[in-house]
Amino acid sequence: MGKQAPRRKPAISRGPRADHGYHLPVMADEIVEQMVTDPHGLYLDATMGGGGHSARILEKLGPHGGLLGLDRDMEAVARNQATFANDPRVRIQRAEFSRLAEFCAPESLAGALFDLGVSSRQLDAKERGFSFTPGTALDMRMGPEGPAAADLISGWDEYALATVLRRNADVVEAKRLARNILAAVERGDGLNSDLIRKAVEKLPGIRDDNRNSLLARVFQAIRMEVNDEMGQVEKGLRAAVVRLRKGGRLCVLSYHSVEDRMVKETLAEFEKECICAQNLPVCTCGSNHRRLRKVLRKPGLPTDAERDRNPRARSAKLRVMEKV
Ligand SMILES: C[S@@+](CC[C@H](N)C(=O)[O-])C[C@H]1O[C@@H](n2cnc3c(N)ncnc32)[C@H](O)[C@@H]1O
Repeated sequence: MGKQAPRRKPAISRGPRADHGYHLPVMADEIVEQMVTDPHGLYLDATMGGGGHSARILEKLGPHGGLLGLDRDMEAVARNQATFANDPRVRIQRAEFSRLAEFCAPESLAGALFDLGVSSRQLDAKERGFSFTPGTALDMRMGPEGPAAADLISGWDEYALATVLRRNADVVEAKRLARNILAAVERGDGLNSDLIRKAVEKLPGIRDDNRNSLLARVFQAIRMEVNDEMGQVEKGLRAAVVRLRKGGRLCVLSYHSVEDRMVKETLAEFEKECICAQNLPVCTCGSNHRRLRKVLRKPGLPTDAERDRNPRARSAKLRVMEKV
């Protein structure tokens, strides 16, 4: 009898893997460590994207744990439904996270993650209309709802567009830029990425090395308006606080200063004991309104290694709070 080949150890299944070509999850080790404290709990991934964070959360859950995944993007939802089809712990819903109260009961969540903004896939896919690539039609919708960027821009006057640029991306040159953009629209230039780029290029007094960052902020401002991102963050975080159970943890990743400010201000309201108007001489609210405490005193930042590996992680800030 010939020598038998050594028996191979069966591969240990680590469950379905997310496709990291779609989006590389940011600060996943830190998030899982901070948020997944109960392997039998129910967790919310409010922004599933490529499913990278969801996969990491599921690795830490036992058979009785659960994951509710949301995303407003049809493509992201379809991919995640396929990726996690054989995992009975996962429930996926296409919805804006401002509607999360419809999908889970008050005080039911052991943890909730909001990884804000757009995915790499959304940015890179020219047909989604988020990218600066020449000739990209301006769409920028994360989901199928509402008007595309081009339709919004053509309905704005100079004041409305300047307000969007200032409010959503702190663009100092908002007024001059709005005038350039709308003059080009008026001339009948195609409403695509070239129109915005040319308007930024024509702006005098901007150093050449600042033009790209200005262009990125103009795109960011319009995208945020198209998707009502600030309204979504405020409503979503408020709903999540109510849905978290005592001791449950909320992790929020933001990627730019305006977004981070909204996160910070929304969460700060839940840290206050007293919610009386500041001009009241005595407290009448009972001073028992505190719902959150900071787990990380300062926002967490990605390691240098992660920044090198994933340029899109560079500006990330992680805030972690616990329901009290
Ligand atoms: C930064 S990506 C998330 C990436 C994900 N954590 C991963 O590991 O692949 C953000 C995702 O959130 C989704 N999104 C943004 N705002 C949303 C909202 N208000 N409601 C639901 N999904 C939203 C986007 O469609 C996008 O897929």
